[in-house]
Amino acid sequence: MSVLETRVRTKTGVPGLDPLIQGGLQQGDFVLLVGGIGTGKTIFSCQFAYNAAKLYGEKTVFATFEEDIASLKRNMMQFGMDLGSLERDGNVKLIDLEALEGGGMGANIETLLGALDEIKGKRLVVDSLTAFLSGAAEKFDYSFLMHLVYKTLKREGITTLMTVSAPQGSSGLGAGVEEFVADGLFQLESYITENMELKTRFIVRKLRGTDHSRKYHNVAFTPSGIEIYKW
Ligand SMILES: Nc1ncnc2c1ncn2[C@@H]1O[C@H](COP(=O)(O)OP(=O)(O)O)[C@@H](O)[C@H]1O
Ligand SMILES: [Mg+2]
Repeated sequence: MSVLETRVRTKTGVPGLDPLIQGGLQQGDFVLLVGGIGTGKTIFSCQFAYNAAKLYGEKTVFATFEEDIASLKRNMMQFGMDLGSLERDGNVKLIDLEALEGGGMGANIETLLGALDEIKGKRLVVDSLTAFLSGAAEKFDYSFLMHLVYKTLKREGITTLMTVSAPQGSSGLGAGVEEFVADGLFQLESYITENMELKTRFIVRKLRGTDHSRKYHNVAFTPSGIEIYKW
């Protein structure tokens, strides 16, 4: 294989997104999805996981910290995403990290890796990394994360999406080490229009190896999930 050969692209399946990023993510990419409350991070993550498992034959481990599994399933069912049925077929594995006893980051990472191994997962979603890191006793030790990403996920070509909760009003980007580790940084942002309407927009801040859109794109919440517009 030539060193110039690009890695295989894998679609996110989030409507409107793939054309903005040369058709999809590169296999093994580690992408952060940053956004404030209610900007659609969980819905986006579920679409990413659901499409992978349902349409692209890529089994996915979805770890939730923010919502328990029952409420996640119920909420996503409203968008026509039946996570329960994918779980029963072994195409998606849902893990509630919050509910796991005796956590700690090392143990949580072991759980994720074990789950990926068990279903031969090709994608990993963590919703959210913010909760994942703050729940850890080893608070400021990013070596666990670096190790997870470089030693395992990248080596095995597992495409990973982790959400980051940004405090309201901030630009959404801290200076966490995770942002340097990430291949990609997607941002969802809410704003108020002149007509005093709450809207959401999306921008690709960074995506290594990809000639991506550099514009803000409007986001719609539709009956089948979120949709990203060209403009
Ligand atoms: N059934 C629905 N139809 C349309 N929009 C919805 C529906 N359910 C939730 N939403 C929108 O999605 C938002 C929540 O999205 P979510 O992905 O949970 O946000 P985040 O994870 O970023 O906090 C809600 O605030 C609401 O605006
Ligand atoms: Mg959420």
